[in-house]
Amino acid sequence: MYNMNRLSHSIRRIPSPRLIPASRNPISLRLNPTVQFSTNTMSQASAVVGNGDTKPNTWQGAGAAEFDLRSDTMTKPTASMLEAICQTTLLDDVFNEDPVTNELQRYVAEITKHEASLLVLSGTMGNQVAIRSHLAQPPHSVLCDHRSHIICYEAGGVSAWTGATMQTVVPKNGIHLTLEDIQKHAVLDDDIHHCPTKLISLENTLDGMIMPLTEAKRIVEWAHSHDIKVHLDGARLWEAVVAGAGSLPEYAALFDSVSLCFSKGLGAPIGSIIVGPQDFIKKARWFRKSIGGGARQTGIIAAAAQVALKETFGTDPCGQGGKLAATHVKAKQVADLWTSRGGKLEQPPQTNMVWLDLEASGVGPNDLSLIGQEKGLKLSGGRIVVHYRTFLDLFEKQTLISDLSQKYRTRRSLSWSKCLILPSAASTKEVKIPASLTEVDSIFQLKNSASVDKIFHIHPLTYVCTTPTAKHRGTNDGGAN
Ligand SMILES: Cc1ncc(COP(=O)(O)O)c(C=O)c1O
Repeated sequence: MYNMNRLSHSIRRIPSPRLIPASRNPISLRLNPTVQFSTNTMSQASAVVGNGDTKPNTWQGAGAAEFDLRSDTMTKPTASMLEAICQTTLLDDVFNEDPVTNELQRYVAEITKHEASLLVLSGTMGNQVAIRSHLAQPPHSVLCDHRSHIICYEAGGVSAWTGATMQTVVPKNGIHLTLEDIQKHAVLDDDIHHCPTKLISLENTLDGMIMPLTEAKRIVEWAHSHDIKVHLDGARLWEAVVAGAGSLPEYAALFDSVSLCFSKGLGAPIGSIIVGPQDFIKKARWFRKSIGGGARQTGIIAAAAQVALKETFGTDPCGQGGKLAATHVKAKQVADLWTSRGGKLEQPPQTNMVWLDLEASGVGPNDLSLIGQEKGLKLSGGRIVVHYRTFLDLFEKQTLISDLSQKYRTRRSLSWSKCLILPSAASTKEVKIPASLTEVDSIFQLKNSASVDKIFHIHPLTYVCTTPTAKHRGTNDGGAN
């Protein structure tokens, strides 16, 4: 188990807490009493960042992350991460000399049952460095799910950097690849017309969905029997583990390499790590350097990552002692609230992501994000991602967005209560919507009304409904900004 006391020798590097007496430091006095944070460290941090006596410290509280449901990358680091950063070592990682970085790498290799690991700056860097390190030269191809992060969101890096052909596969079950999907598409022959599969890159979780351990095992065993390496983009493997799909070592040890992210649901400000055999990590260190990923005083990254791992995932192999498990419960609540209001889901949530089927629910692709904007919530499309910073009471009432909005509505005195109908070529009339309803309720009602075709937002406070006979212009009567 990781021992934070190993870091104690580094405390000498921190300016004396006496620089700003804790009792006179307004920053430490403003701390939320529920936040476990030492006043000495706060004073040290204030001194280190030069906050003086007046500026608020942005590490306090959840900040904007509380109402940001677009991704778990929006989590905000915690005060305890800052505390660890203040106590970290600051030696050079390009020279392999930073104790806290080395300790993190040792610890992650240990808990994933791999020989070695390497800290990288992002999940993308982790995948790219790992995939490059596995491959030699064309002709070769990398097989992956057609929705994989490596093919959809990494700027074409795999092909650009390795010269590999990407073989994308659509999973037959719509959720995760199976061995049968892969067998159908993998290229095993040495026919010179083809491009042999040399690497399979899986992703778990993918869109919040779990690849079961048994399926992962079948795929890896088969791949190895054909001399194909298997990498796992495990940016969110933590989530699958916490959901009870298998332990961290059970999953991680299967693969030739795994990349794991600290800055998604775990909440660290920055950093990912790749694990694998010693010679693979040695090669990866080389490729990491070649793309500018060799960083110097990485202790600041490793220290926060270590806290994220310990506090958010937990210290047991199934992640039951950390904060992630609660986010899965919240995600299920969101899904239940949505379906209880007649909404449809693309899939029932398995981890921390909820996929609303907007089309089947009669909601336009941008409706939720626009309503969210209005109410101070950040939403994107039909995906709602819950993380440990998500405002805890957010989903506890009867309705989804209308209750999400309540907190903000009170603060901003917004009250959507009527829908004015603009003059149009066809007719003019006024539709009253009871003051107790929120904008979303209004939109749901209007959508369900036979006379409404479409609803468009034309301004955060204004929307237009088209009907066969009239154009309706809605506005808020609170006169708010
Ligand atoms: C599954 C997956 N892998 C890799 C990444 C890349 O991580 P980063 O944004 O740190 O480069 C992401 C980012 O969201 C991801 O969702």
